[in-house]
Amino acid sequence: MAIGMLTSGGDCPGLNAVIRGAVLKGYKVYDQEFVGFRNGWKGVVEGDIMPLGRPQIIGIGKQGGTILGTSRTNPFEGGGAERVAEVMEQNGIDALIAIGGEGTLAAAKRLTDAGIKIVGVPKTIDNDLSATDYTFGFDTAVQIATEAMDRLRTTGDSHGRCMVAEVMGRHVGWIALHSGMAAGAHAILIPERKTSIEQICEWVQSAMDRGRAPLVVVAEGFKLDSMDDEHSERGLDAFGRPRLGGIGEIIAPMIEARTGIETRATTLGHIQRGGTPTSYDRVLATRYGMAATDSVMDGHWGRMISLSGTSITHVSFEDALGTLKTVPDFRYDEAAVLFG
Ligand code: F6P
Repeated sequence: MAIGMLTSGGDCPGLNAVIRGAVLKGYKVYDQEFVGFRNGWKGVVEGDIMPLGRPQIIGIGKQGGTILGTSRTNPFEGGGAERVAEVMEQNGIDALIAIGGEGTLAAAKRLTDAGIKIVGVPKTIDNDLSATDYTFGFDTAVQIATEAMDRLRTTGDSHGRCMVAEVMGRHVGWIALHSGMAAGAHAILIPERKTSIEQICEWVQSAMDRGRAPLVVVAEGFKLDSMDDEHSERGLDAFGRPRLGGIGEIIAPMIEARTGIETRATTLGHIQRGGTPTSYDRVLATRYGMAATDSVMDGHWGRMISLSGTSITHVSFEDALGTLKTVPDFRYDEAAVLFG
């Protein structure tokens, strides 16, 4: 019997390293065969299968994206557990490794409850899963955002402008906090901390008064203290969640109007998810992949691979999906000492 593997939800640097780690461990240690499902749960419910042996994984550990393709398809809109079981049976697949974020793992939990054998691997650049210390892809996103901010700072310096950099992260501010701290931002705005425009302008003005071109980093899910909800004007995704983005363009003119400092906004967007993973993410992803194969061989169904300190372990889907890992106050307050 083969193990079926799928990558689902938004892509993330390191997905290919997980696939390679899982297949290599299976091949070398257990003489185990794999097949891939194309485009996440969509491929599972449609029975869209591709070979996944050693020839397919050659050199992929350093490649961005996913060789399997991905989608935000919800399997319960395409037949649910019955259809998944049927496709697995027809193709001689005994168990699944599902690599994905919150939406993917929630679907995996429902399928496991219905008797499908699944092991999950956490994936998201947002780093918002509380049951793992880090998700792969986060380090790469932070690195890309930091490099972009270093560039924004030189052009900001040349023109004496305030630069606003908007980063991803959905409901959490981890990418903003880490990249902002690394780039020496004068203000970091995160979803966990509503802030007034007056406070933001105070930080901007104070940096300007010291002869610095202010850099403001804003997470896409940030709310001004006058806002009830995140800024969203792009409708909902397949799991019914609001698509975020654009808050930087709202804040920049407000800063300019109040301070008189010329201000420009840049949204980094999907650049944060593209390209080669950092070495940290390659190692983490490879270890996750190898551990996923071990968990399948040990029959640990309904569990997600996780990082605890420097050790790889696994937790139940229930625990994995419990709470969002938000930025704690002490981490924000520590960074805020450096603002302005
Ligand atoms: O969850 C990862 C993420 O990149 C979020 O940071 C962002 O809000 C969302 O996905 C974007 O999704 P999509 O690729 O569907 O536009």
